[in-house]
Amino acid sequence: MKQIPLEDNFTDVIGKAQRGLQISDEQLATKANVSAADLARVKGGDADEIVLRKIAPVLNLRADALVELGKKAWYPSVPAQIPGLACFNTTWEDMTVNSYLVWDEKTLQGAAFDTGADCSDMAKFAKARQIRIQTILLTHTHPDHIADLERLKQATQAAAFVCKLEAFDGAETFDAGKRFVVGPLQIETRQTKGHSRGGITFVVSGLPNRIAVVGDAMFASSMGGGGVSYSDALTTNRQGILSLPDDTILCPGHGPLTMVGIEKTHNPFFP
Ligand SMILES: [Fe+2]
Repeated sequence: MKQIPLEDNFTDVIGKAQRGLQISDEQLATKANVSAADLARVKGGDADEIVLRKIAPVLNLRADALVELGKKAWYPSVPAQIPGLACFNTTWEDMTVNSYLVWDEKTLQGAAFDTGADCSDMAKFAKARQIRIQTILLTHTHPDHIADLERLKQATQAAAFVCKLEAFDGAETFDAGKRFVVGPLQIETRQTKGHSRGGITFVVSGLPNRIAVVGDAMFASSMGGGGVSYSDALTTNRQGILSLPDDTILCPGHGPLTMVGIEKTHNPFFP
């Protein structure tokens, strides 16, 4: 898999935490005991460790992880090959988005997770390996994740499924907690909402590695913005994702793959 850059830098993390907690620059500077000028400099991209360590606790962020992100020297270390998992990274406006294919090597039955901007690479990959995509599972309905759904449905003749809380015309709905079965693979669904109204994390077992497709609930060293509820995002990520075994491979909607054990120490949002 090609190396995808981290989705967020330290200024993105600070911005998401400030918006989530509704803390203005003025309040943050006062509570952290830093000058307005120092805060502005840091928010402008200067990763001053002393200032970062003062503002992190006010924003309930893990200071070490924020500083590490500021140094731009960290990248999650995940096995290069994960059997039965492929990531497809496509360009959407000024960013990229991930979709995933998971399959059983013996029966060649598989499941698609999201479509990304363009499902062509996934469809080609599956065809070349004779993988039959049995179901299309959607983490959430932000447009970059479902942009090519009609084409993927046509190419695979598979039905798409979305959490009931984000129902729309193109997909059948399910309640969080439902289990999907694809050949010998079991797929558990967990509600990880807050970034979106009905975000779902799909936990796949039956492959050599346990895999969780998390959508925008969590990124390597960051998470999706808490557009619906920042506190729900923090809580459901802890309950639904960080509670999984440390060696679980996390497949985020943007940025690189990571693992639960890595995010427990390197994700600034979960001190
Ligand atoms: Fe999203």
